[in-house]
Amino acid sequence: MAKVLVLYAHPRPDRSEVNAPMFEAAQSLDGVTAVDLYADYPDLGIDVDTEQARLVAHDVIVFQHPLYWYSAPAIVKEWQDLVLEHGFAYGHDGDHLAGKWILNATTTGAKPEAYSKGGVNHADLRSLLIPFEKTADLCGMTYVAPFVLHGAGRAREENRVQMHVEAYRTLLTALVSDRVDLAKASRAIALEGDLTPFLLQSEIA
Ligand SMILES: Cc1cc2nc3c(=O)[nH]c(=O)nc-3n(C[C@H](O)[C@H](O)[C@H](O)COP(=O)(O)O)c2cc1C
Repeated sequence: MAKVLVLYAHPRPDRSEVNAPMFEAAQSLDGVTAVDLYADYPDLGIDVDTEQARLVAHDVIVFQHPLYWYSAPAIVKEWQDLVLEHGFAYGHDGDHLAGKWILNATTTGAKPEAYSKGGVNHADLRSLLIPFEKTADLCGMTYVAPFVLHGAGRAREENRVQMHVEAYRTLLTALVSDRVDLAKASRAIALEGDLTPFLLQSEIA
């Protein structure tokens, strides 16, 4: 069994149509520690010791957030800047995160085709999130492809929210029970739609 830490960052959760129900689902799952960063640190006064202890106690870290300006909302950067200290996350004796897995669970306003070489962003989402991947590399963690819902602004009217929340629940539950093919997921461009190809056999049944 793996211990999964969800670090949720949404500056306006009251307006969220997708991330809020996703986080609610995460909070209800055994084996998942669900942390609302903006609720815990409304003034961005992050408690480094608490956050480092949480990291050490978990195997899989999930940053859950809407995509804001091709990245995560500001508190995630503040969290990275303060929590991933030299001597803890990297550098001399900085091996506390080595061997853990990390991913972004994110939603975008733009449609899937925008996140492709031929689309308006000229790159897929994983490429745009490269600072997260390089940070993971430096800390000895393995970066897993982002779990994503594109076109999130229209998901409610198109009845796509519930399916995505269920897929998130499936993903988190499978992570807890070591039933995600993490090696395969770490090589993928994105985890979206049908997650079956990334689930080990016993999870599919
Ligand atoms: C400040 C801000 C920046 C945003 N930047 C992006 C962006 O870079 N790319 C994109 O596709 N959508 C962007 N969006 C749209 C959000 O990603 C979208 O509203 C969100 O994923 C919807 O999820 P929610 O219902 O949980 O808030 C942005 C929205 C805001 C408010």
